[in-house]
Amino acid sequence: MIVLLAVFVSLCISVSSSNVCETAAQNKSTKGHTIQILYPCNNTIEAVVGSKLEVTCTVLAELHPAEILVYWLANQTFIEEYSRDNRIKETESERKGTEKSYLDATLNFSKVERKDFAVTFVCVILSGETDLARYISIKPAVSNVHSHIAIAVAVLISIIMISICMYKLLKHKPPQTYVNIN
Ligand SMILES: *[C@@H]1O[C@H](CO)[C@@H](O)[C@H](O)[C@H]1NC(C)=O
Ligand SMILES: *[C@@H]1O[C@H](CO)[C@@H](O)[C@H](O)[C@H]1NC(C)=O
Repeated sequence: MIVLLAVFVSLCISVSSSNVCETAAQNKSTKGHTIQILYPCNNTIEAVVGSKLEVTCTVLAELHPAEILVYWLANQTFIEEYSRDNRIKETESERKGTEKSYLDATLNFSKVERKDFAVTFVCVILSGETDLARYISIKPAVSNVHSHIAIAVAVLISIIMISICMYKLLKHKPPQTYVNIN
């Protein structure tokens, strides 16, 4: 029972926590400015061959956007070079707050190819004060159908086990409880 519940809970967690960084990489530059890579965090994401994919590297920096450069590399080469057919497009954007700036560099895959699974995509942050890098790898997704069936089976088994427990509990109740109601 407990094992089944644990399996069920871990299935739920694995489904829901695909896009969250546990520990954002944080660095103080030589001048004491905070530069933080909110995403990615050296993690692996899943994708289906032929599907679209969008990955955004988000950086939070106590610097003016002009002082910092955020870009992606694929296996140490620039994205334009890795995908000469424009299959992967890279776009950058920035949002300036009062003291902090958010910088985004987004990779847009029009379709994921098998060779992407062997490549490390690195988000590089360059500024006069510090250099940082965080990578992401892509692995073939376990088909959604399979994971949904697994969850359905786990739920069904849990319900059956709970029903059996309830039935046993009710059966062991002393009969007086029913008699005393009237
Ligand atoms: C990227 O690097 C990995 C490991 O070094 C290698 O296996 C893979 O073939 C490379 N991919 C490309 C497209 O260069
Ligand atoms: C992530 O990878 C980069 C580059 O390889 C490394 O410098 C950094 O320490 C790694 N960070 C974590 C949290 O693993």
